[in-house]
Amino acid sequence: MKIALMVNQKPNDASISHEDFLEWDSMQTISAVSNALEEFHEVAVIDCHPEKLPEVIEKLRSEKPDFCFNMAEGFNGASREAQVPAILDWLAIPYTGSGVATLAITLDKAKTKEVLSYHGLATPSFVVIANIGDLNAQALDKFSYPLIIKPLLEGSSKGISEKSVVDSYDELVKVVEKHLITYSQSVIVETLLQGREFTVGLIGNGSSIEALPIVEVLFDKLPAKSRRIYSYEAKWVWDDPSNPLEIFQCPAIIPDDLKAELSNVSIQAFKALDCKDWARVDLRLDNEGNVNILEVNALPGVLPDPNENSCFPKAAFMAGISFKRMINRVLDEAFKRYNYYICN
Ligand SMILES: Nc1ncnc2c1ncn2[C@@H]1O[C@H](COP(=O)(O)OP(=O)(O)OP(=O)(O)O)[C@@H](O)[C@H]1O
Ligand SMILES: [Mg+2]
Repeated sequence: MKIALMVNQKPNDASISHEDFLEWDSMQTISAVSNALEEFHEVAVIDCHPEKLPEVIEKLRSEKPDFCFNMAEGFNGASREAQVPAILDWLAIPYTGSGVATLAITLDKAKTKEVLSYHGLATPSFVVIANIGDLNAQALDKFSYPLIIKPLLEGSSKGISEKSVVDSYDELVKVVEKHLITYSQSVIVETLLQGREFTVGLIGNGSSIEALPIVEVLFDKLPAKSRRIYSYEAKWVWDDPSNPLEIFQCPAIIPDDLKAELSNVSIQAFKALDCKDWARVDLRLDNEGNVNILEVNALPGVLPDPNENSCFPKAAFMAGISFKRMINRVLDEAFKRYNYYICN
């Protein structure tokens, strides 16, 4: 089959801000995914650069792929992860992973939590603030501090730093004000859960969704006085492939009943949000040990270098699934969904 690999390649330009292109993929990641697909298929890589929309469409028309492997993170605002799937739907080209509605909802942390709550899945209580004038101390009375403030529509811990956790209303006002200006979008204010944190990678669809070995985020590997959150600093400053922060334990060392609950809750979230083929669910326990969902990543990041802390490939590897196999497995799950013959 001919597969188009839809990507957003990180610019090489050292002058651009690291934070602006956090989610885009490096050449190394794109090559690793392309090599994996090339084991069984002909592959055309299509860089979905925002300034090259006509070229992207032209390339899809000229290459005539049978199927797309979608990794494109998109650009600009709330629709960005859904942009390439929308184009592919328009051109009637099938693709891996979740569709437009799911990608738009899961990018929005509040909308995700609304869907999860509707389905009876626990998630920290929250409020969304679009303007500083919307903040009032009374509306926040039902929350107990500490609270965490996050940009509504980001990933990779963009805008989630040590300073995002606040212990008082006065502090909260300052951080919300700063975040509204810095990130030009609403913020979500949530109760900070202080128990153990896990992430669960999922592959499959319908009645055969497989939960990969559970990853625990080990907060005691962070600098002593830091807040116990998997922050921007923890992902991008304190962790370095040449000196990796040993922050993940996979498989997590937990009792069987907790393992079953984390896996089941993650599968329920996957279904509630109508995810397809693969996703990663981030979860955290509250002080009483109750499982809560923090967010659902419908377009999970996959770094091929084992020295880089990338949860999904790490969990797949622990399940005996190599990086190459993992990528082809996602494609096969999508083929099955479309009733395509699986040739590998
Ligand atoms: N309500 C919360 N309670 C406790 N910790 C939280 C909460 N919300 C976020 N965190 C911490 O901040 C981290 C990043 O938050 P979240 O997963 O929502 O952001 P993200 O930028 O979408 O991350 P990702 O890299 O998974 O895309 C979490 O892994 C967790 O450690
Ligand atoms: Mg997360």
